[in-house]
Amino acid sequence: MILLDDVSLTYPDGDSRVTAVDHVTLEGRPGVLTGITGPSGSGKSSLLALAATLVRPDSGRVVIDGVDATDLGAAARTALRRERIGIVFQQPQLLPSLTTREQLRVMAELGGRGTRERRASVRGRIDELLDAVGLGHLADRRPAQLSGGQRQRVAIARALVHDPRVLLVDEPTSALDRARGAEVMALLARLTRERQTATLLVTHDLVHAGALDETVEIVDGRVATADAAAPV
Ligand SMILES: Nc1ncnc2c1ncn2[C@@H]1O[C@H](COP(=O)(O)OP(=O)(O)O)[C@@H](O)[C@H]1O
Ligand SMILES: [Mg+2]
Repeated sequence: MILLDDVSLTYPDGDSRVTAVDHVTLEGRPGVLTGITGPSGSGKSSLLALAATLVRPDSGRVVIDGVDATDLGAAARTALRRERIGIVFQQPQLLPSLTTREQLRVMAELGGRGTRERRASVRGRIDELLDAVGLGHLADRRPAQLSGGQRQRVAIARALVHDPRVLLVDEPTSALDRARGAEVMALLARLTRERQTATLLVTHDLVHAGALDETVEIVDGRVATADAAAPV
C-alpha cells in the first residue's frame, strides 16, 4: 500500500520556485496497476520521485505500508526503499559487464540489514523471477546481447528481487515499439496481480491504457481526473 496524501513539490527557479506537484492525493493498493498519465512536464516523474522517497515533499505525507516516510532520515528512507519499494526507471540502467542473472544478484547482495539467510533466500528466488519475466533462457546474456524489451524486463525483474510491496515504473514503453510495449505492459499487469504489488506506472502513452486497472490524470501538477479504467 502506498498513500500520497496531499503532497506538493516545488523546485528552485531563479529567485522563485516552480510547482511540479500541487496538492496531489492518490493511493496504490495491492494487486492494482494504477496508471499516472498526463502531458509531458505535468509532474508525473516528480510524483514518482516523491512516491519513491527519493525527494521529500514540501508538504503532505508519503505513507508506505503504514510507515510515514515523510519525516524519516536519509538512512531510514534508504532502508525503507530497499525493503519495500521496487523502482523501474525510464532507461533500464543495466551494468554492461554483467549477465542478466548477475544484474539481479548484485541487487540481492546490496543492503546492510540483510542477514545471510535473507540474502540466500533472495538469491534462490532469482531464477524463479527470471522465468516469471520470460528471461530464464537469457540469464547468461549481457545487456548488449538483449533487445530493448528484454532489457526492460531485466530491469523489472531486478526491481522485484527484494519482493517489494510497492512497484514504481516510469514510462516503461517509451523506448519500445508498440508490440514490445504491449508485452511489457501485460507483464507488469500480470506481475502486479501475482505478486500483489501496489504498482504506480507513469505513462503519457494512452495506447496501453487497456492494461491499467485505474488511471489518474495529472495536468499542471494536479489531479485532473481519477477513474477506474474504462471497461473493455
Ligand atoms: N530537478 C528539477 N529542477 C527544476 N525543475 C524541474 C526538475 N525536475 C522537473 N522539473 C520541472 O517540474 C515540472 C514537472 O516535471 P516532471 O515531473 O519531469 O514532469 P513529467 O514527468 O510529467 O514530464 C516541469 O516543469 C519540469 O521542468
Ligand atoms: Mg517524466
